[in-house]
Amino acid sequence: MTPPYYDQLAEWTDIVPESEIRRLLLYNVKYYFGGGKPGALPIDTFKTILRQIADNLDTTGIDILNYGPTSGLLSLKTVLGERMKRIEGIEIPRGPDDILITSGSQQMLYALLDTLIRPKDVIVMARPSYLGFVVPVTKLGGNVLTVPSDIDGLIPEHVEKAINVCKRELNRTPKAIYVVSDSDNPKGTTLPEKRRKALFDIAVENEILLIEDAAYREIQFGKIPPPIKKYDPENKWVAYLRTSSKEAAVLRLGYSILPEEIMTPVIKDKGYLDLCTSSFIQKMLEIYYANHIDNVLADNLKIYKRRRDAMKKMIETYFPSNGFSTTPTGGFFFWFQMENESFDSGKFMQEKAIPNNVLYVPGKAFYPIKGYSISAGDSKLHGNRIKTNGMRISYSFVSSQMILEGMEILGKLLQKEV
Ligand SMILES: Cc1ncc(COP(=O)(O)O)c(C=O)c1O
Repeated sequence: MTPPYYDQLAEWTDIVPESEIRRLLLYNVKYYFGGGKPGALPIDTFKTILRQIADNLDTTGIDILNYGPTSGLLSLKTVLGERMKRIEGIEIPRGPDDILITSGSQQMLYALLDTLIRPKDVIVMARPSYLGFVVPVTKLGGNVLTVPSDIDGLIPEHVEKAINVCKRELNRTPKAIYVVSDSDNPKGTTLPEKRRKALFDIAVENEILLIEDAAYREIQFGKIPPPIKKYDPENKWVAYLRTSSKEAAVLRLGYSILPEEIMTPVIKDKGYLDLCTSSFIQKMLEIYYANHIDNVLADNLKIYKRRRDAMKKMIETYFPSNGFSTTPTGGFFFWFQMENESFDSGKFMQEKAIPNNVLYVPGKAFYPIKGYSISAGDSKLHGNRIKTNGMRISYSFVSSQMILEGMEILGKLLQKEV
């Protein structure tokens, strides 16, 4: 007999799909262009850090093997705040009190949405967008409103139009705008400076929170414009999210600057999610950010750039020339879109790519399961829009040689579909 609770789980369990990226991790393929896994990890550096911690554990163990403050260790927040100020010129009015440590930036995204969203609230974002943000909006009872994006990312004119349409047709102002300004996930686009300023101005003018997810801020092969957060010295309009996952190691630690007004409820939320982020991991990363990051990044960026260059070359050589490809200047991803809109990159992957040992993430995963959209052609609110002809291809994890081999296979398979 089935216990009754089997059929009475929370409503979201019926509407929210399993994360496509988590699901794809189950496949064991030779050419892995799937999740945004770092492939250049500072193993020697972490061996040194662990030895240093071990040597001091007699005195520090009582604290770092213990529960710590929900908002994070003061010493780590001080190091991170000074670095963001020195490198990016970001003003942090209350110093470490404006910084929150979370268990991955994913926890921050979730806790922030959990704190912001009232039923039917609208969040504006690019189409496509990072699925780890898109799906929780729906799960928590909000509505996603997507706007078209181009080769430079989110387009401010469409964001402005979306806000006006939302006010007119739904009688409400959107709660937040979400943007990955540097080497976006999934498209790999980087916002030009003019768009950054325009988005900030739109947020202030309409009194909307701007969520700037800067996961790939330090994985850059050249100079990029300053973060949008730099326009917000009073720390009022921009929630600025960073993570150690790409620039250090996947130790599950995120660090964010939040406006004072939302800091307290978000900490309250985190307190019920995990009590605190591991103190031991925080101590490891404090030493990394204080003493090692610059040297480590200089080496790792050379590796990622070589892989980016290899992937670019193979897309140019073997992929259908009538398709659309972005060229990332950092981060982990290319986005390739077949010209034929009825092409289904999910079906193609199951039937053609995986049997040939190649894996990427089908583009459909980055479109919301439900919600609203704005099109370039008119000023009306439309239903949800999903495209199936795109694919996110990651160059972060496998060697340049594997990229050359796997991308030739993928390109030739795609050519046959044209
Ligand atoms: C844009 C973006 N934001 C947030 C995250 C979450 O990262 P983490 O939870 O590892 O900090 C990712 C992970 O890939 C990402 O690509």
